[in-house]
Amino acid sequence: MRIRPDIFDIPVINNVILYEETDSTNTRAKAFGDSGCVDGTLIIADTQTAGKGRIGRSFSSPADTGIYMSLLQRPDIEPSLVSGVTLLAAVAVAQALTNIDGTSILPQIKWPNDILIDGKKAVGILTEASCSDKLNYIVTGIGINVNNTSFPKELSDTACSLYSSCGRRFDRETIICRVWKLFDRYYQTFLAEQSLDFITDTYNSLLASYGQPVYILPHKKAIGAQNPYLIDTTGINPCLCMGIDSHGALICRHDDGRLEHVNAGEVSVRGLHGYI
Ligand code: BTN
Repeated sequence: MRIRPDIFDIPVINNVILYEETDSTNTRAKAFGDSGCVDGTLIIADTQTAGKGRIGRSFSSPADTGIYMSLLQRPDIEPSLVSGVTLLAAVAVAQALTNIDGTSILPQIKWPNDILIDGKKAVGILTEASCSDKLNYIVTGIGINVNNTSFPKELSDTACSLYSSCGRRFDRETIICRVWKLFDRYYQTFLAEQSLDFITDTYNSLLASYGQPVYILPHKKAIGAQNPYLIDTTGINPCLCMGIDSHGALICRHDDGRLEHVNAGEVSVRGLHGYI
């Protein structure tokens, strides 16, 4: 993979480090963060040997097909705002892929930050942060299935790529620039406003389960299940997904009318009939 020179026109990108192979671009970015590397360092790998997902899952990262990248940033924000950056990234990726190259691709977001195409996962986002008394750095890791023609058996029900959804290949370098250009725009507003208010309507308009019944599951039920169809929902009542609030928590309406705001650090969401 090569990097397009215009990536350096994007204000959030100051430095790019490219690996043919690494364990995980998030792990590399955190190591660079710990050793004092500058704000705006983007780590990109052609393949990862230990790609990480949320709640201890792995992220399949075959060579020459997907995008695996992590941005190290040192924003001056309260640690409580870190999860907001993940949601900005989700909107940026969803919009970057929308109708890309004249296709009819219309991505949706599965809260908090998976991107689905036709109900299957094409993108995962993993944000990690280092805090002491204040925020030291934040790493936003994005994995996009671009030209994958097949998936490991355990993912075949739930994963897709741009290729599998429209039968043609895409230029990864162009997608990388599109994603960070959009992210940059939202990130600058977020830093200025220190709030997600400006983007909640956009996020909710992309949310796959908006207005739909969902199961809210403690992570311990979801951990280990790469395939959400296999998560046991016995004894859990569905509730209605009402979108995110200005902190990025998901608002759920229970049968008795009670509204609950749930945090991504504590729960996973599953649709009634499968992944969404
Ligand atoms: C998830 O599906 O739960 C999140 C997946 C995030 C994958 C990306 S790929 C680039 C970066 N490096 C990692 O190890 N993970 C993220």
